[in-house]
This record gives sequence, C-alpha cells and structure tokens, in this order.
Amino acid sequence: MKKILITGVAGFIGYHLHNKLIRKGHSVIGVDNFDHPCGAPIQCVKGDILNRSLMDELIAGCDIVYHLAAQIHVDRSYVERQLTFDVNVEGTKIILELCTKHNSKVVFPSSVEVYGTSQEESMSEEHRIHPQNPYAESKWEAEKLCAHFSGRYGTNVSVLRNFNTYGPFQNNGQYGSVIPIFVRRISDGLPPIITGDGKQTRDFMYIDDTLKGYELMTLYDTCDPVNIGTGTDVSINELARKILSIMNSDLSLEYTDPRPNEIMKIRGNISKAKKLGFYPTTTLRDGLKKYISWYDKIHQINQRTND
Ligand SMILES: NC(=O)c1ccc[n+]([C@@H]2O[C@H](COP(=O)([O-])OP(=O)(O)OC[C@H]3O[C@@H](n4cnc5c(N)ncnc54)[C@H](O)[C@@H]3O)[C@@H](O)[C@H]2O)c1
Repeated sequence: MKKILITGVAGFIGYHLHNKLIRKGHSVIGVDNFDHPCGAPIQCVKGDILNRSLMDELIAGCDIVYHLAAQIHVDRSYVERQLTFDVNVEGTKIILELCTKHNSKVVFPSSVEVYGTSQEESMSEEHRIHPQNPYAESKWEAEKLCAHFSGRYGTNVSVLRNFNTYGPFQNNGQYGSVIPIFVRRISDGLPPIITGDGKQTRDFMYIDDTLKGYELMTLYDTCDPVNIGTGTDVSINELARKILSIMNSDLSLEYTDPRPNEIMKIRGNISKAKKLGFYPTTTLRDGLKKYISWYDKIHQINQRTND
C-alpha cells in the first residue's frame, strides 16, 4: 500500500485515478482548487498548488505524487495566458521542489500538444517539439523543469505525453472536450459543430486505458517522456459521424471557422509504452458506446429529479 497525493483530483482524470487507486487499497489524498472541476462527487482538500506551505504539508510522507492540476484548455490558454503559465509551469516547479525535498516520486502528465501537427505518419517521442498554443508551451516548459530536476537533483519524475482522453464526467461545457460536447448537443437535438473542415485527426483514448498508462509510469524510473495513446487516429468528421450513428441520430454536421493554429494531425506511436507493458484495449467504437450509455443514464436521472 502506497501513500499517494493527486493534484487536480476533482478534474476528469484525477477523479477516476483517485477511485481506482482507492479500490486497489492505497492511501490516497487529493487536492484541487475547483477552478475546473468535472462535477463528479469527490472529497478532497480544497486548495491551490501554488500555496507552497499547503503543498509542503500534503506532500510530506507521500510515496507518489500524481501531479495532474493544470489549466488544460487550449482556447482558455489564449485568453488567460498568465494563469496557464502560473499553474502549469510555476505550480509544477513547486511540486518538483517539494517532491525532491520529501523524496516522493512524481508522475507528470504532459500533453501530445507539445508536438504540434504531426510531420510523420505517427508521432514517436523523437518527433520534433513544436508547441502551437500557450497551453502546449506551458506543458513543454514544465517538461523541461522535470528534466532539470531529474538531472540536477535526482528527483524521481516520470513524464507521460497524454493523447486525448475521454470518458464519464469529462467536462462538456464552455471549456469542455470535443466528445462530451458532441454527445451533449446531439442528445439535446442539436447538430455537432465542427471547427474548420473536420479533417483534423486526433488519437482518442478511453479513460480506463489512460489510467493503465498513468499507473505504469510509477514503475518507470527515468524522466524521458513516454507517449500514452492508442496508436490510431480518427478525423473529427468521422468521429462526429460515429457518435451520430451510435446515438441513432440523423442530424447533419455543422461547420464553423477553424481555430487559429489548430493541430491538423495527431496519431501516437506507442512502441515505447508497449515495451513498458502498456496495451490499450478499448476501441473507439466501444469507448464511445460506454460513454454515451453513461451519459444517457445520468441525463435520464437528472431529468427525472428535475420533473
Ligand atoms: N484529458 C486529456 O485528454 C489530457 C490530455 C493531455 C494531458 N492531460 C493532462 O492531464 C491532467 C488532467 O487533465 P484533465 O482532463 O483531468 O483536466 P481537468 O481540467 O478535468 O482537471 C484539472 C484539475 O486541476 C484543477 N486545478 C487547476 N488549477 C489548479 C490549482 N492552481 N490548484 C489546484 N488544482 C487546480 C482543476 O480545478 C481541475 O479539477 C492535466 O495536467 C492535463 O494537462 C489531459
């Protein structure tokens, strides 16, 4: 049994990770400032990772710190650049300093966004680094801090590059993600709205697979980044059509202006993760079905309680 801290525990991935680690019998504490909670029921310390004395207290005695707290939304990172850098870079530095002090292992989820648009059929960890937005820049800066702490102070930190994860409780509001937003709109009888021509591709991974990747990183003792994705990609047009078909909807796709600097192709090369024992098992169709059936159930219960 390990003593574990999760920062950003009220967020989408943090919530699921918390539940899985508790089920496995670990002693888990979470902290979150509820800047962007996913809305799932969770008990945790309400606090900010920028509060060094609070974090010092929480990290003391921890074997592992999963450092998930971050401002994760690309659009918001343009509007709130300073906040994005304060939380994602300065906050990560505080966590690294304190984990070094307390000799705790750090697992840091960076993002596939650091690569920018794929220049190859799929992106290995050796792909060029080309952050195309402030969120991606902040994650790249944080990765460099991880490398610095590992090299200079011997901090035990593992960096994973998380491809696009989806699943229950993922945010579907203003700063939400594409799958939950499409499902909410279609469920409300509204067409999915696609930015640009919809030919941009993403490597979507179901939450259960992502968690396997996060846990595996605790066994990996260097800070060389590891891609955690599925090794497949799908265009946003195709994704929307798949969701419409699963939801038995005959709505048409709608299009809006492209995002500035949108990444046009993302597909992971996960050979390195596979060598470490990472094998994603949920197909996109199965993952979407699971998510949609969860959404329908929650939606029906909410409608009943509101009637
Ligand atoms: N979801 C994905 O597809 C994906 C992809 C790549 C990387 N990641 C990384 O995984 C991590 C978790 O992502 P997620 O999808 O769960 O995001 P999320 O936004 O759902 O969760 C992040 C949590 O961090 C909290 N937080 C923000 N600022 C904080 C602060 N100053 N102090 C304490 N808590 C704070 C938010 O309130 C939120 O609950 C993030 O670091 C993200 O960059 C996620």
